[in-house]
Amino acid sequence: MSKILVTGGAGYIGSHTVRALQEQGYDVLVFDNLSQGHRAAVPSACSFLEGDLNRAEDVERAFNEHAVEAIMHFAGLCLVGDSMRRPAHYYRHNVGQAALLLETALQKEVRRFIFSSSCAVYGEPLEIPMDEGHPCRPINPYGRSKRIVEQLLADCRQSQGLRYVSLRYFNAGGASLDGTLGESHDPETHLIPRVLQAADEGRAVEIYGDDYDTPDGTCLRDYVHVEDLASGHVAALRLLERRDLGDTFNLGTGKGISVLQVVEEARRVTGLPLKSKTAPRRPGDPAKLICDPSKAGSQLDWRPRHSDLATIMESAWRWEKSRRF
Ligand code: UFG
Repeated sequence: MSKILVTGGAGYIGSHTVRALQEQGYDVLVFDNLSQGHRAAVPSACSFLEGDLNRAEDVERAFNEHAVEAIMHFAGLCLVGDSMRRPAHYYRHNVGQAALLLETALQKEVRRFIFSSSCAVYGEPLEIPMDEGHPCRPINPYGRSKRIVEQLLADCRQSQGLRYVSLRYFNAGGASLDGTLGESHDPETHLIPRVLQAADEGRAVEIYGDDYDTPDGTCLRDYVHVEDLASGHVAALRLLERRDLGDTFNLGTGKGISVLQVVEEARRVTGLPLKSKTAPRRPGDPAKLICDPSKAGSQLDWRPRHSDLATIMESAWRWEKSRRF
């Protein structure tokens, strides 16, 4: 039986998507070097290849040993601040690995590709909400590395007939609703796990800036539940099965939630007296990142179902209290 090759399938968004694929009857090959992913996040019913996307022989192996029909490429580095400190490292991982994977896939005549892109490709918003036609002027190496891969996909489509979908995630959050999968990064930089861990450990959470031009002065983000991101990938795969296209979709809700709202919701779901303290702004943080998700709604028939703040925070808290990795 042919398989969906999922790079980074042991990571946060990848592992939730692997599960969604399996639930829809797909056979999955997870390719991961476990540098950020977790072996325990990969279902036992899945094929697993521990490999390095920088090594051509590892990538070849995936195609030589398995009948791959499509690729979902999650593997990569995803921290804006880290990318500003070591840009070459980000380009090598995010651009170099995608290029090697695409080159090999096309040699093997695999022509369906779904890419984990980011709202970071847009840069500073010129208008809110942002639709896919918003200019792409990324302001950090992470965003630029994602944008270069999108351009590479378009080139591969033009010259070699690649079918692809690039999914621009806004802020992923939450954990699987059954509590068995969730976010586990080291170091953890993302707001939701940091807030919940601070509550759990009786520490104050830092709020990076409270003087932005927003209703409560803290940054607004468009949080989308990780299971909704997973269903977005399944919808994209179905689209590529039906149609020969190359296209880009935002995945988000269209609603902005402030840092203070996340902190307040953390107090509610944990029942703990979480303290907060104002810290300096984090370089590179736009005041607002809010998506127009209507294209994914009309063309992927995708709608977020679990992305209300309560579900995101309750599932993330359940995971924090019972996490296995
Ligand atoms: N924040 C805090 N305190 C913390 C952590 C975060 O106040 O301890 C704030 C940030 O300044 C930001 C908001 O919470 O305003 C969300 O921060 P995250 O780090 O959770 O998420 P980002 O919006 O920075 O990053 C996300 C994705 C990136 C993507 C980026 C696009 O994680 O992969 O959106 O800008 F590139």
